[in-house]
Amino acid sequence: MFTIENQATGKFFRTDGAGSILEDALIHGLNFPYGCQKGFCGKCKATIIEGEVGYEGDIPNGISAEEIADGMALLCQCRAKSNVMLAVDELDSIADIEVKTLPCKVSSINHLNHDVAQVFLQISKSESLQYFAGQYIDLIHPDFAPRAFSIANAPSNSSLIELHMRLVDGGKFTNFVFNKMQENSLLQLEGPKGDFFFREDSKKPVILVAGGTGFGPIKSIIEHAISTKLERQIHLYWGVNKIQDLYMDLPNQWAKDYKNIHFTLVLLEPDSSWKGKTGYVHEAILQDFEDLTGYEVYACGPPVMVKSAANTFVKQGMIKDNFFSDAFVFSYSKER
Ligand SMILES: Cc1cc2nc3c(=O)[nH]c(=O)nc-3n(C[C@H](O)[C@H](O)[C@H](O)COP(=O)(O)OP(=O)(O)OC[C@H]3O[C@@H](n4cnc5c(N)ncnc54)[C@H](O)[C@@H]3O)c2cc1C
Ligand code: FES
Repeated sequence: MFTIENQATGKFFRTDGAGSILEDALIHGLNFPYGCQKGFCGKCKATIIEGEVGYEGDIPNGISAEEIADGMALLCQCRAKSNVMLAVDELDSIADIEVKTLPCKVSSINHLNHDVAQVFLQISKSESLQYFAGQYIDLIHPDFAPRAFSIANAPSNSSLIELHMRLVDGGKFTNFVFNKMQENSLLQLEGPKGDFFFREDSKKPVILVAGGTGFGPIKSIIEHAISTKLERQIHLYWGVNKIQDLYMDLPNQWAKDYKNIHFTLVLLEPDSSWKGKTGYVHEAILQDFEDLTGYEVYACGPPVMVKSAANTFVKQGMIKDNFFSDAFVFSYSKER
């Protein structure tokens, strides 16, 4: 057995090194930050001060060889090979939220356009799911490995969960949802998960970047901001391929109803009648904001969009610590 200690907090736990350090830390109630848990997003990165860790197979995408040489590690992918002293900022604000596994029933499936469905899950009345706006759940069905989906409604109704699901070409679970799953089908959910959530104690103006169904958790954040009468300026940018991919008109309504909410739709493949912004959504933001120094940015959607925003916004002044994101990495598993 090895001892893993976080120098930043003095907290420690014991592990046999069979699971990842992140997995064991979470089992022991330490709130280490994480996102995809698949070695992509880099959110679980920590500094190894003392001791040895190892990866099974290739070095994951979320960390570079230089970072490993500098003593960094991806805690969701590495295992302890000795006692380890590491340094990582644990999250305080989600510390009190319990991650639960709960039975739920599909209360409705609404097809919003050609490849997006809005799915409502009803949790039994005796239970509830506490979460922060922006977080996600894993959906559990006996025939499939768990799949991650972000919660699209504000935390005010904790027994009805709204999800926006995109049909993935060749995707097993999303094809099941679109073609076979019925109202009243029984599932389980596990959550809430992730550290992509709205920081309410800040006063900074906010830029929200959504790509496709990345709008779901952004919707949760805006609905929450509206319900708490937040006065900070909110600039929402939603990037989709074509106008037909815009699956909700809510943002236009928010922009009409609230003077602090501003909405820009960005089309990658517009037709000739389109007069608005075109191209990649992060590029539209770079054009509109010469200096991103004072802004807090929340980005959610395809991994390539999240990565491009992170890299280019920093060059235009954004402070790294003011960037929060969820990359919609596929949960694809070979078995199911
Ligand atoms: C934190 C988080 C939050 C998310 N939130 C949302 C959300 O709110 N809304 C949303 O729409 N999505 C979201 N996603 C993405 C979502 O989880 C995936 O789209 C979903 O898991 C796809 O499941 P699937 O079974 O349909 O696809 P899978 O079957 O898992 O397939 C995924 C990909 O792998 C390919 N594939 C399938 N079989 C094979 C094979 N044998 N060999 C090689 N490749 C193969 C498929 O063609 C497809 O491109 C989120 C992801 C994360 C990590
Ligand atoms: S790389 Fe570890 S949580 Fe994403």
